[in-house]
Amino acid sequence: MNAVGTDNQRVLSGMRPTGRMHLGHLHGVLKNWLRLQHEYECFFCVVDWHALTTNYAQSRDIEPAMWEMLVDWLAVGVDPGKAKLFIQSHILEHAELHLLLSMVTPLGWLERVPTYKEQQEQLKDRDLATYGFLGYPVLMSADILIYKAGWVPVGEDQVPHVELTREIARRFNHVFGREADFESRAESAVKKLGQKNGKLYRELRTRYQQQGDHDAVQTAQALLAENHNLTLGDRDRLLGYLEGGGRSILTEPQPLLTAVARMPGLDGRKMSKSYGNTISLREEPQQVEEKIRTMPTDPARVRRSDPGNPEKCPVWEFHKVYSDGATRDWVWKGCTTAGIGCLECKQPVIESVLQELKPIRERALEIEANPEMVRSIINQGCDAARDVARDTMEEVRQAIGLSYR
Ligand code: TRP
Ligand code: SF4
Repeated sequence: MNAVGTDNQRVLSGMRPTGRMHLGHLHGVLKNWLRLQHEYECFFCVVDWHALTTNYAQSRDIEPAMWEMLVDWLAVGVDPGKAKLFIQSHILEHAELHLLLSMVTPLGWLERVPTYKEQQEQLKDRDLATYGFLGYPVLMSADILIYKAGWVPVGEDQVPHVELTREIARRFNHVFGREADFESRAESAVKKLGQKNGKLYRELRTRYQQQGDHDAVQTAQALLAENHNLTLGDRDRLLGYLEGGGRSILTEPQPLLTAVARMPGLDGRKMSKSYGNTISLREEPQQVEEKIRTMPTDPARVRRSDPGNPEKCPVWEFHKVYSDGATRDWVWKGCTTAGIGCLECKQPVIESVLQELKPIRERALEIEANPEMVRSIINQGCDAARDVARDTMEEVRQAIGLSYR
């Protein structure tokens, strides 16, 4: 259960500075962000410190990759008037929260994160035997929790990290959520609910604590979510008091999994720079054409007269992303009956990709020519992010007892 109910409309997502974006990023992540920015209060963060956790030896690559990536975010239509765009390392509070969370994160939780062992096995050329790499998910938790985000749009592979974030938040709240005078503060918050709702809250609390009635918890959570007169602090206290714990300071986020188009690379494997099978968002038109014309096709279709099987062809995967029903019918029929040739089949894909990329490329060139604008967008995003992060850290320090002067 999300600690502040279902009314938390804040989204946080982070992307490592990987340089120019390609079609895989566009269809897998960015299009999703474009939708979310209209529906939620979005924070989109360049996680440059995360790049260090696996690549500290190439630290100088981070900066150019970051600007290229930001230009592409803007070029595809991520709107700084709607979403806050900022850089992780510019908000030092992330580091402070990372440190404080690390105090209550059991080592075993980190060693059991699936990507920990997997990446150590896959990225043999890197030094991943560091404290920073082990702590990578704690840093990610800090990124999310510092904004009290309710939702984190991620791919399947990142879901365990969001789960871990929830566990860390819960543990933090459990350890530090009991102020010395928690009970009396909670009691006075109950009074602020008014007579009728206060009575209802007490009944629901008793029903849960004496009979373990989970419906009662949900009803009470809804009651608190609807009450707009409560301060955030009081609401958190009442949520904690309800279940017998302390005050909930950090919000448990949920992963936001959305169906995204599967955008494979030119060779049918996942599109990824390390496979060299990408089409970048700023690829020259001739390059786009060349790359698609030389794409492998169904290997069984050696001669033009051999019928093919689209299911065994990466070009078909592109048609699934780009072509309408009529075109797909034409491909299926033409391929399986040897009615069309592969180059012919690729032509509509070439046209669709060119059409999709043209405005993006143009905007990217304009934005790139204006680095001051990008900087100012980022500065504004950082200022907005920092305001939220500072408030959270104020509460966090207070909860731990570190707010002395
Ligand atoms: N771990 C994420 C990845 O590798 C990047 C990331 C860092 C992130 N902090 C985040 C994603 C916060 C979502 C929210 O893709
Ligand atoms: Fe692939 Fe199209 Fe050639 Fe069939 S006709 S093998 S789908 S490129």
